[in-house]
Amino acid sequence: MHTDINKILVTHDQIVERSKELAKEITLAYKDRKAPLLVALLKGSIPFLAEFMKHLNMDIEVDFMDVSSYEGTESIGDVRILKDLDQSVKGDNILLVEDIVDTGKTLKQVSKMLYNKGANSVEIVTLLDKPERRLVDVKADYIGFVIPNEFVVGFGLDYNEKYRNLPYVGVLKDELYL
Ligand code: IMP
Repeated sequence: MHTDINKILVTHDQIVERSKELAKEITLAYKDRKAPLLVALLKGSIPFLAEFMKHLNMDIEVDFMDVSSYEGTESIGDVRILKDLDQSVKGDNILLVEDIVDTGKTLKQVSKMLYNKGANSVEIVTLLDKPERRLVDVKADYIGFVIPNEFVVGFGLDYNEKYRNLPYVGVLKDELYL
């Protein structure tokens, strides 16, 4: 275990196993529908995307978006697009891929944007869900693990851009938070 980590919340084996289960569930859910366009939100979703998409048994496509939340006073929930999609989503069934649903603001705004661009449906798959922190009404359709209200790193999740490469999800030692 990395020396900065206090405890592991979700092990690598658990992530691998759960990713397979989610992929099976999602494949089944799209059996009679147009296969989804996976829209992964950079950068945190990358390890999870790579882990679970290889078990999807259908002809999906993948695109990426990078967004950042406005920390402004009046505009809670507004997001700024840092990298937009490369392709049109008109008529597509979108499967948004996230690392974690926290306040829910990001996914709420991104879903709205995708519907505005003409998406037929928008569903969400997330590795982690922290329901206690929710500020807006967003529910992921497929959830890897529900976790308590703790700041976590690893498997894509960062603290100041570090720890994304850890193969598990863990909590940092208290003294590392500035
Ligand atoms: P939301 O809009 O508040 O749901 O924010 C979601 C984004 O905040 C995620 O995509 C993460 O980048 C970041 N985030 C939320 N909670 C954590 C955490 O515990 N560790 C690392 N990043 C987090």
